[in-house]
Amino acid sequence: MSKGAHISSREQYDKLYRQSLDDPEAFWGDIAESFHWHKRWEKPFCRCNFDMNKGPISIEWLVGAQTNLCYNAVDRHVEAGHGDRVAFYWEGNDLNQDSKVTYRQVQDMVCKIANYLKSIGVKKGDDVTIYMPMIPELPAAMLACARIGAVHSVVFAGFSADSLAGRIMDSRPHVILTASAVKRGAKPISLKTIVDDAVTKCEEEGHKIPFVVVFDHSLAQKRSEVPFTSGQDVWWQDVIDPQPIECDVEWMDAEAPLFKLYTSGSTGKPKGVQHSQAGYMLGSATTFKYVFDHRPDDVYWCTADCGWITGHSYVTYGPMLNGATQVIFEGIPTYPDAGRAWDLVDKYKITVLYTAPTAIRSLIQKGDSFVTKYSRKSLRLLGSVGEPINPEAWKWYYEVGGDKRCPIVDTWWQTETGMHMITPLPGATTLKPGSATLPFFGVEPAVLNDQGQELEGEAEGYLVIKRPWPSCMRTLAGDHERFEKTYFEIYKGYYFTGDGCRRDKDGYYWLTGRVDDVINVSGHRIGTAEVEGALDNHPACAEAAVVPFAHDIKGQGIYAFVTLMDGYDYPPDESLRKELVAMVRKVIGPIATPDVIHWAPGLPKTRSGKIMRRILRKIASKEEDSLGDTSTLADPSVVEQLLNLRGK
Ligand code: PRX
Repeated sequence: MSKGAHISSREQYDKLYRQSLDDPEAFWGDIAESFHWHKRWEKPFCRCNFDMNKGPISIEWLVGAQTNLCYNAVDRHVEAGHGDRVAFYWEGNDLNQDSKVTYRQVQDMVCKIANYLKSIGVKKGDDVTIYMPMIPELPAAMLACARIGAVHSVVFAGFSADSLAGRIMDSRPHVILTASAVKRGAKPISLKTIVDDAVTKCEEEGHKIPFVVVFDHSLAQKRSEVPFTSGQDVWWQDVIDPQPIECDVEWMDAEAPLFKLYTSGSTGKPKGVQHSQAGYMLGSATTFKYVFDHRPDDVYWCTADCGWITGHSYVTYGPMLNGATQVIFEGIPTYPDAGRAWDLVDKYKITVLYTAPTAIRSLIQKGDSFVTKYSRKSLRLLGSVGEPINPEAWKWYYEVGGDKRCPIVDTWWQTETGMHMITPLPGATTLKPGSATLPFFGVEPAVLNDQGQELEGEAEGYLVIKRPWPSCMRTLAGDHERFEKTYFEIYKGYYFTGDGCRRDKDGYYWLTGRVDDVINVSGHRIGTAEVEGALDNHPACAEAAVVPFAHDIKGQGIYAFVTLMDGYDYPPDESLRKELVAMVRKVIGPIATPDVIHWAPGLPKTRSGKIMRRILRKIASKEEDSLGDTSTLADPSVVEQLLNLRGK
């Protein structure tokens, strides 16, 4: 427990938590006072319906207020005299590539981008797609959109051209902001080539993209090697750098959309999770302050890319709304060797490190000497996000990474929640390794059984949330019906998280993983249906069924059963496996690479034709001894066939 912490005891947490539920208006209203409002909120403070029995789902916070997130995250600090404070220490992929950007410089950068966007006709409510590496221009581009009321849609610059095209066609941006290339590890990846492919695909479908702005990232690729289409492409340095450094902010209604971010669901194409202004601001800023117990002299490093929600809430918005100094890193923690992360900790005197269990596990594998050769004395707090942290990884992170000095905040949340939901507070919560512990202020979780009944006390079941919180997603872009169906229809009156959990006798929550058809690969969500759809694109694939299996580094891996078109022998030529894997990488991106392709002359199906995934999961986990009841299978012999083809 830490005496100087914002929340320094369990009693203080309990008291504030109670207050946050008993009187949300007083609790969040008090927090809201520390931000700038162009127009204050009115009554009611929060106008929400979380219960489909009572009508359509609607979520509105700080009704009637007007604000601007960019103003609050940047200008407010400059105006308060903190313009010279470092906002970003940027570290490139290669050693000795670094730079420093102050809050005043961020303001200049943001205004230039915003002025350019305005000059090409981007208006309040227009969409802007951002496909960029982790360079300061990426969060600056997001903030520039927020400044003028444009809705950003950041696509992780590791997604394929097909995935990017799908997201572009869904959000119909006025412009794409990209960079020539990115370097993560030894080899540069030409982002511009991927964007060109995506643009061509969009045009084939009748969607013209008026503008593509290319940041010349010469550290990753020489300008002369970058494909460039005159008439469509412009260089960032040519059009944005000369812009003026003043740009008025657009005052935004509390509920106007701020951004959409695509994430995988259990069915169909990725969903555009849409967040709004004022509530998201309160949620991301308040959790950042309390969960990381933010102090003005902190140097904070979140290893997530801005292409994920963690990068939105805990790189761009949460930290900057608090005027924090942070490190952003273009590379990967294992390049040029597994000591890189700890090298950065010493180089920048990082105090708070926030990363994912998958990264921790990949570092464990390389051995402790990569860690212990660095001092790491500056660290005071460690964070974990994205998937349940296994006890071995927790112990190593605590004992080796943090020298047994630093508490670990294991933060459970989602793209949809926008902010930490279940998490320790470092000065107040007694930790239990592997548990995300207790709900954050204003968050009221519950555990339901199969029948949707709420369980009391110690319990295991589905994790749901009983009431709205400020930064809850507001809708799925363009599809409110799917939003209601996915999250609110199954258990009326609750937000359904898609996660299973256990609550212990002390009220601590232990997340047990997804209960839907979503695989959590290295902390990233991949829908089984998406991978199956990608495999189906190959002419040899007649049918595919994808399930998760336990993976030492990634947490969960992707296991694909593939039935081939008539005429193929089992097992087929090895080259087909490579082609199928390549197809998934092309359609979705390298993160969705199947770990195993298991040839399947037949899939276990019920008589009505439904694939029995339970059986496939058992086979993938090598637990065929406990297959359970197979009597409902249309053809029980397929199981034997599958087992014979394991490893072939
Ligand atoms: O299954 C949970 C898991 O990640 C899912 C959310 O994924 P995404 O929207 O991509 O956001 C990831 C970053 C917030 C959840 O439904 N998850 C996330 N954090 C944890 C976790 N599972 C267990 N413990 C966590 N700390």
